[in-house]
Amino acid sequence: MAATREEQRLPTMAAYDRWAATYDSDGNIMQMLDDIFIGKHLPPLIQDASSPHPQTVVVDLGCGTGRNTLKLARLGATVVAVDNSVGMVRRLREKLAQDEDATLAQRVTVVMQDLSAFPAGDLLPALSTLPPHSETSDVATTGQNDVNADATASTDIKKVDGVVSTLVLEHLSLKTFFAVAAAILKPQGWLLLTNMHADIGACTSAGFVDPVTGNKVRPVSINHTEEDILSVARTHGFALDGAVSEDGVRDEAHAAKLGPRALKWVGYKMHLGMLLRLDG
Ligand SMILES: C[S@@+](CC[C@H](N)C(=O)[O-])C[C@H]1O[C@@H](n2cnc3c(N)ncnc32)[C@H](O)[C@@H]1O
Repeated sequence: MAATREEQRLPTMAAYDRWAATYDSDGNIMQMLDDIFIGKHLPPLIQDASSPHPQTVVVDLGCGTGRNTLKLARLGATVVAVDNSVGMVRRLREKLAQDEDATLAQRVTVVMQDLSAFPAGDLLPALSTLPPHSETSDVATTGQNDVNADATASTDIKKVDGVVSTLVLEHLSLKTFFAVAAAILKPQGWLLLTNMHADIGACTSAGFVDPVTGNKVRPVSINHTEEDILSVARTHGFALDGAVSEDGVRDEAHAAKLGPRALKWVGYKMHLGMLLRLDG
C-alpha cells in the first residue's frame, strides 16, 4: 500500500522560503497555464505603452523567483520586483546574476515588502528612487487605498505604467491587494492579474512536496471567486479591459502535454486571468 503523504500548513512566507528550491522545476500545471496567458497578454502591453515612452515601468507584485520579472525585463521594461519571501527573492537574484544578458539586472529593482503591511515597508521608498529617465509621473499619494491611508499622504512616489501579479492573490485579502495596486499605478495604468480559479480553489490550494520531508506543504490560502475579485477591484477604481480568461486541463490529450500532474485535473477550471485598468 502506498504511504500516505502528510499535509503541513505553514505561514505563507515560511512555505515559500522552502518552496523556492523547487518552485521553478516541480512541473506545476498552474505555472504552465499562466505562461500561456501571460505570453499572450504581456508583450502587447509593453509594446503599446513603450511607443509614446522610452521605457515602461512595471511592478511585479509577488514576483517570487521572477518568472515574469525576467520576461518583463527581456521585453525592455524597467521592473520593480516585489516579494517578501527571502528564499524566493534569493532565487530571483541568482537568476538575474547568472543571466547571459548582463543588462537585464540593471533594469530590475528587487524590493522586500510584506504586501499586507503596505504602505509601511520598502515599496514606496523604492518607487521614489526610480531612475530619472523613466517616464513615471511624480504624484503624491492621495490616500485612495484603505490600508493605513494616512501613512501614504506625504510620500512622493513615482506612479507606474503597469502592475503584473500572477498566482499571488490567493494569499492576500482582496482589499489589501487592490489597495496596493491602486496606490502605485498611474491613472489608466494596467493591472495584469492571474489567480487560481475558484473551481479548483474549492478542492485544493497552492502547495508543493517538500523534498526534505516528503510532506505536502501548503501556504495559507483564500479561495476568491471571480465575482468577489471584480467587485473589490471596482471599489478601488479598476475596470475590466476585455474578457476574463478561464483555462484548465481540457482532456487527456491536453493533460499528456502538460505533464503527469495534470491528469487528475481534467475538466476543472484552474486558471483565472484578467486585464484591469485604473480609472482616471
Ligand atoms: C505562487 S507564488 C507566485 C510567484 C510569481 N508571481 C509566479 O507567478 O511565479 C506567490 C508569491 O507571492 C508571494 N507573497 C504571498 N504573500 C505575500 C505578501 N503578503 N507579501 C509579499 N509577497 C507575498 C510569495 O512569497 C510567493 O513568492
